[in-house]
Amino acid sequence: MDRREMLHWLRCEDPEELRTLWERADRARREGVGETVHLRGLVEISNHCVRNCHYCGLRAANHRIDRYRMTAAEIVRCAEQAVALGYGTLVLQSGEDHQIEAGWLVDLIGHIKATTPLALTLSLGERSEADLRAWKAAGADRYLLRFETSNMALYRKIHPDRGDNISDRLALLRLLRRLGYETGSGVMVGIPGQHFATLVDDIFLFQELDLDMIGIGPFIPHPDTPLGQAVPSGLPKGEQVPATIAMTCKAVALARIVRPDANIPATTAVAVMDAGSGRALALQCGANVIMPNLTPLHYRERYAIYPGKADRLEAADQSDRQIREQIGALGRRVGIGQGGRLRRGGRAA
Ligand code: 5AD
Ligand code: SF4
Repeated sequence: MDRREMLHWLRCEDPEELRTLWERADRARREGVGETVHLRGLVEISNHCVRNCHYCGLRAANHRIDRYRMTAAEIVRCAEQAVALGYGTLVLQSGEDHQIEAGWLVDLIGHIKATTPLALTLSLGERSEADLRAWKAAGADRYLLRFETSNMALYRKIHPDRGDNISDRLALLRLLRRLGYETGSGVMVGIPGQHFATLVDDIFLFQELDLDMIGIGPFIPHPDTPLGQAVPSGLPKGEQVPATIAMTCKAVALARIVRPDANIPATTAVAVMDAGSGRALALQCGANVIMPNLTPLHYRERYAIYPGKADRLEAADQSDRQIREQIGALGRRVGIGQGGRLRRGGRAA
């Protein structure tokens, strides 16, 4: 698909015509990864963050948030719950928290890998090559790091550098790949200042980086952040990408078409924006993964990246039941095993 066609789809609002896009993405999904929906248990291990992203409630300058860091024993209990619920993967996510020490996590990774069959995904922000290397050696399988936007001027504006520590997430993604991680990235849809042309560039970058996992969610303003109020995007009328479910589904569909065998989640932000059908919509336009939240409830409500995330706090076994019903209702089935990237030739890597 070329740029012109991609732009056309992003701007298209004709439901009849869009059906063609949904069908094409759904076919690419079926051929690329099949009918299976993989469940990854998500544990939000710390909401401390040294960064000051203009969009995120965990930013260091937000003093209205109650910070926590889970203990190793608490995280191990979540891993055991993931196994009990039949999940093949555990995702450990946090803000960029350098108090999460490399050696401490090496021990925890070693323990989880030795005592469970889980694949381990890390999503801990921008860490040093030494840390990333140590965690890989300890047994971590995958790493998620969104590049957020391919427009470097916009990225610099909304994701400030940390002193003389220049943020280069694209370089980090290439490093993660070299270190042997299955690598995931992604963007938000509708951040103020995001052009349609920028979103097209984002999708081509998914293809160029040959990502194993692609996470795409709508931007949801957080009142305690610089982008929390209605900020003028500075773009000419009609150029700003709207932060809607429909636009997110278009981006998911196009990502699926350019990366047929990637793992693409129906993201939490989609489920938060439309609690009734967000996930099902994403699953029908290219997504094949759901990340049920296993974080203990009293921590989960404090992991407030954006508002609404903790509105419907449900224990893990309850949301697990609902998610399985949703998947069944779509005629799909829940995956068994780790559900890693399918390499051409059909075998899971
Ligand atoms: N709305 C939606 N997504 C957000 N993220 C951060 N802040 C927001 C927000 N306000 C996403 C970013 C980040 C991931 C952890 O959450 O893409 O990489
Ligand atoms: Fe920190 Fe990530 Fe939030 Fe940025 S998006 S403030 S790095 S948690």
